[in-house]
Amino acid sequence: MYSIIGSGRVAHHFSHYFELLGLPFKRWWRPRAGQDSENPPFEEVVANSSHVLLLISDGAIEPFVRENWTVLEEKVRVHFSGSLVSSVSIGSHPLLSFTSTLYPAEIYPRIPFILERDRGQFHEVLPGLENPHYLIDPSAKAYYHALCVLSGNFTTLLWDKFFCELSDSLDIPQEAGFLYLEQICSNLKNRDIPALTGPLARRDLGTIEANLKALEGDRYREVYLGFLKAFGLNPDD
Ligand SMILES: NC(=O)c1ccc[n+]([C@@H]2O[C@H](COP(=O)([O-])OP(=O)(O)OC[C@H]3O[C@@H](n4cnc5c(N)ncnc54)[C@H](OP(=O)(O)O)[C@@H]3O)[C@@H](O)[C@H]2O)c1
Repeated sequence: MYSIIGSGRVAHHFSHYFELLGLPFKRWWRPRAGQDSENPPFEEVVANSSHVLLLISDGAIEPFVRENWTVLEEKVRVHFSGSLVSSVSIGSHPLLSFTSTLYPAEIYPRIPFILERDRGQFHEVLPGLENPHYLIDPSAKAYYHALCVLSGNFTTLLWDKFFCELSDSLDIPQEAGFLYLEQICSNLKNRDIPALTGPLARRDLGTIEANLKALEGDRYREVYLGFLKAFGLNPDD
């Protein structure tokens, strides 16, 4: 039996997934400030659980376990943080972005989990789930998570900027950019052919200069310059 701790996005998604799977679980979250809790006490919720999923903010995980050590000591304690490595809780990172909206049922069994090597088998850490799973050394987690943030979160910022500027600055409907996004995702998944096109791929310094001039006064100009540097192109060369 599981307990799911937290009322945030990931707790919401995984409660839904467990319901879809018919996996029994109980749920607890801390009472909102100024509100009386309708939840039974934490100790009561987790009493019959073998596994406690700590789906709370990264910085709260270790203090929460330590504060509730007498209740949690005998439980398998699991957190879903991609970066935290903790002696008091096993990390199992679902490699996906979870917003406040639930996803179609077929997404959940496909979510890959990244486990810390030598902290238990997947079926011991998350019994009842048959998701794909992979092991990494705990020492590699910080780098792994930095890559996740660079790829997933930073491109989200870039695409958000693109869609907002399309509609707000250029009076083009945001939907006009959707096919561009979809084809780029599709191109990236074809690992046999380089996905990058455009002036960087062509090393077209004239167009790059024009782009940088057009971005004067825009905070994303620095981002463009940072990408050029990471890509090994210097427009001043
Ligand atoms: N969202 C993603 O895309 C994603 C992807 C993979 C992994 N994760 C991991 O999943 C975990 C949860 O992330 P999330 O996105 O669901 O975060 P979230 O939506 O911000 O929710 C955080 C939850 O933690 C609770 N919390 C914070 N401090 C607490 C404390 N001291 N005691 C008890 N509860 C506390 C919050 O309660 P209040 O509402 O009362 O503040 C809230 O229920 C994190 O470890 C995160 O790294 C997230």
